[in-house]
Amino acid sequence: TGFSTLDTGFVNTAATKSAITYIDGDQGILRYRGYPIEQVAANSTFLETAWLLIYGELPTADELASFDARIRRHTLLHEDLRRFFDALPASAHPMSVLSSAVGALSTFYEDTMDVHDPAKVEIQMIRLLAKLPVIAAYAHKKSLGQAFLYPDNSLSFVDNFLKLNFGTMAEPYVVNPVLSKALERLLILHEDHEQNASTSTVRLVGSTEANMYSSISAGISALYGPLHGGANEAVLKMLAEIRDSGQGVARFVERVKNKEEGVKLMGFGHRVYKNYDPRAKLVKESADEVLAALGVKDELLDIALELEQVALSDEYFISRRLYPNVDFYTGIIYKAMGFPPRMFTVLFAIGRLPGWIAHWREMNLDPSTKIGRPQQLYIGSPARDWPTER
Ligand code: CMC
Repeated sequence: TGFSTLDTGFVNTAATKSAITYIDGDQGILRYRGYPIEQVAANSTFLETAWLLIYGELPTADELASFDARIRRHTLLHEDLRRFFDALPASAHPMSVLSSAVGALSTFYEDTMDVHDPAKVEIQMIRLLAKLPVIAAYAHKKSLGQAFLYPDNSLSFVDNFLKLNFGTMAEPYVVNPVLSKALERLLILHEDHEQNASTSTVRLVGSTEANMYSSISAGISALYGPLHGGANEAVLKMLAEIRDSGQGVARFVERVKNKEEGVKLMGFGHRVYKNYDPRAKLVKESADEVLAALGVKDELLDIALELEQVALSDEYFISRRLYPNVDFYTGIIYKAMGFPPRMFTVLFAIGRLPGWIAHWREMNLDPSTKIGRPQQLYIGSPARDWPTER
């Protein structure tokens, strides 16, 4: 009672003001702190973009160097946290492992409760940036049954992460610049996307003054779903099904249009973009480059290209303004790099971490922040008396 506005799925309601990311969904524009995504992707690094998102301006060379150095210094996991992985089943989905281990971080640091102390907020942020890639790589190694490597702080953020995933105890790890460049670019493209479901989750949890680890662990859980970050894994599954069933792309598209139960064109459509997702354009360019550089020929890429062609010329998709989103081509690149499909959404989470941190901080520093507490329209039974006899 009393509330006349119902906005299921927050299609039309702003929950906050924000100065971090600008999106114009009709024109397919995305800007981080005013800088077009195309320019950020062409010129920046993951950590420089993280600084930009978090602090609002580009760092000086000294600021960036000390940010990088602080993150490198915090890469080691507490040995008990490393052993925490022993208690989880090897069959666990790496996204569940990730949210559990990030939640567990707040059990290791007693400085987690004062969310208004800037020094404490800063160290939580540094620890998360340093440790999330290590946790992610351990989730991967755990699923393979391989020994965990310790981080190598002589390497850059991206190379350290790749070594932790693909290095072994048996052989020295050789950095592959093609992989490093491609991963850096994909991570940059995922760094922020304003009030998506996982970021809104981080903000909602953070609005209760829960610490950053707990808030971000909740964000990781929100990202897990196939309608959000889980779409990159779902796209690959869909492409493989089209290949294995032999049904052909046109037949699959018909099934999507007929709204067959559970059949959707994964990696297509977006709540905000009603035009080509600008990130998808950049990812598509990378897919060609990376596959060529790695010498990988993937028939799933051919199926994806055909699917895109068929969908973009079909009235069903045109009238609903459904275009490929960022997740449509990322899985093909991650697969070529050697990541199993279950790791794809984990890579999205590493990319999105700076955005989550930036939003958590923006909210936390804003004195007008209130605890998030949506209203409802009650549609249940009117008042009634408990039955005297049953
Ligand atoms: N395949 C087929 N039809 C679709 C699709 C799709 N992928 N997406 C939307 N539609 C149809 C939908 O059935 C509806 O048709 P109708 O009006 O006849 O009922 C119309 O388009 C509008 O869709 P909606 O469900 O109202 O749109 P939404 O804004 O609520 O949902 C979405 C957005 C991203 C959840 C949805 O497009 C979707 O499920 N896409 C597939 C999953 C996906 O790729 N998600 C990744 C999003 S981008 C990165 C991220 O956020 O992680």
